[in-house]
Formats: sequence, structure tokens, C-alpha cells
Amino acid sequence: MKWLRSKYVFPLAVITLVISLCLQCAWIRQLYLAQKKSLQTTLESIVSDASKQISYRTIAKGHEKSGRFQQFFLSQEWSALRQAFDELKVDNLRSQFHYGITNDSSVVEMKMSFLNDAKLKFDHKSSAVTNGKSQREVSLQDQRDLKVMDSLVNHRLDQLGWHINRNYALYDYSDGRLIKGQLPAQTLSAFVSGKYTYNLKFQNRYQLIVPSITWLIVFQMRYYLISSFLMLFLTAAAFYLLIRLMKNQQLYAQAKLTFTSNMTHELQTPISTISVALESIKKYHLIDQPEKLENYINISVHELQRLQSMIEKVLKQEQMDLGETQLQLSLIDVQPILQQVISAMDVQVKAKNASLVFLPSDEPLFIKGDAMHISNVFYNLIDNALKYSPARAKIEVSFSIADRQLTISFKDNGPGINEIYLQQVFERFFRIFNQDNIHNVKGSGLGLHYVKQVITLHGGRVDLHSKAGKGCNFMVILPLYEEN
Ligand SMILES: Nc1ncnc2c1ncn2[C@@H]1O[C@H](COP(=O)(O)OP(=O)(O)OP(=O)(O)O)[C@@H](O)[C@H]1O
Ligand SMILES: [Mg+2]
Repeated sequence: MKWLRSKYVFPLAVITLVISLCLQCAWIRQLYLAQKKSLQTTLESIVSDASKQISYRTIAKGHEKSGRFQQFFLSQEWSALRQAFDELKVDNLRSQFHYGITNDSSVVEMKMSFLNDAKLKFDHKSSAVTNGKSQREVSLQDQRDLKVMDSLVNHRLDQLGWHINRNYALYDYSDGRLIKGQLPAQTLSAFVSGKYTYNLKFQNRYQLIVPSITWLIVFQMRYYLISSFLMLFLTAAAFYLLIRLMKNQQLYAQAKLTFTSNMTHELQTPISTISVALESIKKYHLIDQPEKLENYINISVHELQRLQSMIEKVLKQEQMDLGETQLQLSLIDVQPILQQVISAMDVQVKAKNASLVFLPSDEPLFIKGDAMHISNVFYNLIDNALKYSPARAKIEVSFSIADRQLTISFKDNGPGINEIYLQQVFERFFRIFNQDNIHNVKGSGLGLHYVKQVITLHGGRVDLHSKAGKGCNFMVILPLYEEN
């Protein structure tokens, strides 16, 4: 797919994520509104059912099991009639309700009267049924019914699974005055139920008030919310991993290309030098001039050695990557190996006008390792410090021991490595190209990859502390040999 270039992948992923986020938000909002509606209906039915149940209990005391009572007082129609009777509060309307049980029948009377003249007013005294009881007795009974009503409502609310703050308001039946409680500020998340009577004495009406139902809705939507977030998170993670993988692949492909061209160039140089030398010997009959001949032969031998060491390096790396490298483990003292490498590199150090400070340790430092690979590791690290630092570089090699672990530190005051590359420099073929002063430094990008692999095979690790412009500190950490 030519049009699906890598530069479009990131914006495409971002757009896809933003669109899915918006769709999820719209869907969740829709769900929230539907859930809110259904919750409001549930809360309303909790109060109305409690009102019906408590009223029935007060009416049918002693007749709770009677089929006739249940058929009448628990019917939908009776509830609707009651509700309508309660709700009808026209100005100056007097509603009277009477209920009584005689020997063989029950009587329910609903009576409404209003004054024709709007200027006249009824005396709003209790219009409810008292069945011959004193006003005080009726009030006491009303309070008891109110308590039962409230606790029934609370019990049902608790069954919803999430505790919500709630309270109630009480209204005078006859004139609708607020007697107790406080209405919440009109917020979108508040719920206020209808007003319900809870007995036949018709003194007061009960209203449930929930200041906020938001958290209850969220609680009821929890599975949808979790799955929605999980889906978004997984999509984002999948995109992130894919893009990272793609970037790594690109980097790798780029690094491999550079490696091939570098290597070709590096191999080409000694071959050209040797062929020029051989041609000169032939052309100018240098066999007759032994001094010059020796010089040309020396150059050729040196170039051949360089060629061989380069080929060996690539082959060694190839073997290591294939897992075919077998370490020749033996008990080795790290210090003499390091000293040997340092003296072998003396010419390079001097050529660069650098100073290499070696801080030896007083005691021998034994590890179980492969001397050849370990000395290659030291060579690579000192070589890098020399290669990438400007002239008059200061390189310091030191030891430290902690928790039966040996740390060999290679510190330089060169250009350092930007924090974003601290992991990548250990990847195969990776080289930093935009560092000004190392533009022309030759290399294959295999050195640190090899170092890491060798040290890992020895059960150790390589730590790198560096900042751009602040030099590098490569720390090789190896387990010290322990006698059992
Ligand atoms: N001491 C250092 N100071 C600054 N940059 C460094 C240092 N050591 C390594 N680097 C950076 O890390 C990159 C990888 O180093 P590595 O040794 O793996 O490869 P190389 O030196 O380019 O090639 P090779 O070692 O295979 O000849 C280098 O290209 C360089 O940019
Ligand atoms: Mg190197």
C-alpha cells in the first residue's frame, strides 16, 4: 500500500483514537441519560410502593390477609384515585375523606367542596378522618406511620447497592405548606419525588429528596464504564506498541543500510591499498629495491591484518547473535587483563594526546569468565572513549565492589550521549549521527551490542550514565567469584 506511508501512521492512529474517544463519550452520555431516567423511575416507585404498603397496613389493620381488602386497596385503580384525590389542590378546595368498617361492610367516602365566591375562605382545619380519636392521638399515630414509611424507603434505597445521601420533606395535607425538610438547590443531579400520603389520616404528605444521584448512576454503569475504558486503553496500547515496533524496524533497516555502506567502504580501503602496493611492486620492479619492497610489503601486511580483524569482528558478532558462542570459562583476575589492554592501546592514547588514568585495586578481582571476550569488552569501551572524545581527552578506569559484585567504570569527558539514546546505543548497528563532533568517526555500530551480549552471558550487566555534553560513564557490573 503505497499511500499508507509510515509518516501517516501516527496521525492516523491519533485520529482513530480521538474518534473512538468521542464515540465512547457520546455513547456513555446517552447511556447516562437513559440510566438516569430509569433510576428516577425506580426511586419514584420506591416511594410510591412504600406509601401504598404503609397506607394499606394502616387501613387494613386486622384484615391484612383479607382478599377483598387486598383486591380493593392494593388495586392500581385505587392508587390512581387516591393519587388524584391527593393531587387535586385547587384554591379553596376542601377534601374530606372518611373510612370506616361496619359489621359487614367497609365504607370509603371521598368528599370535596369548594366555595363559589372566590373572596370567601375555608377555615383550613383538618379535613381528615379521625374516627373519633383525639387530635393528639391522631398526630402521634401519624408520626409513627411516618417513621415506618421513612425506614421502609431507606431500606429499599440501601438495596440499590450504593449509599446515597437522602432526606425527606413533609407537607401539610390540606394547604400544601412545607412543614419539615429543605428542598435542594435545583441541580441536574438532584432527585425530588412526588408527594405521597402514608396513611388515611391525611395529615401530611411525604416527599423523598436525594441531593445527587450522579454517583449512583455511575455505580450502576460501572461495567460499561470499565469495559469502555479498557477498550480505549487496549486500543491505545496496541497502537503504541505497533508504532514503536515500526519505528524500531525503520531504525534497524536504516542502521543496517549504513552498516553495509560503511563496511563496504572499510573493506574497500585495504583492498585498494594492497592492490596499489602490488601494482607498484610490479610496475617499478621493486624486487630490485629491497628497502622499498619491504616497506610496501609491510603496508600490505598491515592492511591485510586490518581486513582480517574487521571480518572476524562481523563473524564473531554473527555467531553471538545466533547464540553459537561458547564461552571458555575459567577463573580470571580482571586487573591484569585490563592492564594488558591499556598498554596495548598506549599508542592510540598518545596519538590522540589523551590521558588514561587507571586506578588499580589492592586485591585481586577474580571472576569466572572468558578472558578473550572480557579483554575485547575493555578494548571496545576504551576505544569508544578515545574515538568519540575530542583531543586531550581524560579517561578514567576504576573499580569498586559492593554486594559481591564488581563494578568496572570507564569514565570519559567526551561529548556524552543524549538521554534518549541511552538504551539504543546497545542495539545492533546503532550509531548516533547527529552529534557534531563525531560525524566523521568510523565505526560499525556493533561494539556496544557486543559488550552487552558478552557481559550478559557472564551473568552481569552494563549501566550507562551520561548526558549530552557531560561525558560518559560505562559501568560493567560482574559477579565476583565466590568459593563455595
Ligand atoms: N564514550 C562515548 N562517548 C560518546 N558517544 C559514544 C561513546 N561510546 C559510544 N558512543 C556512541 O554510541 C554509538 C554506538 O557505539 P558502538 O561502540 O556500538 O559502535 P561504533 O563505535 O560506532 O562502532 P564499532 O565499535 O563497532 O567500531 C556510537 O556510534 C557513538 O555514537
Ligand atoms: Mg565502538
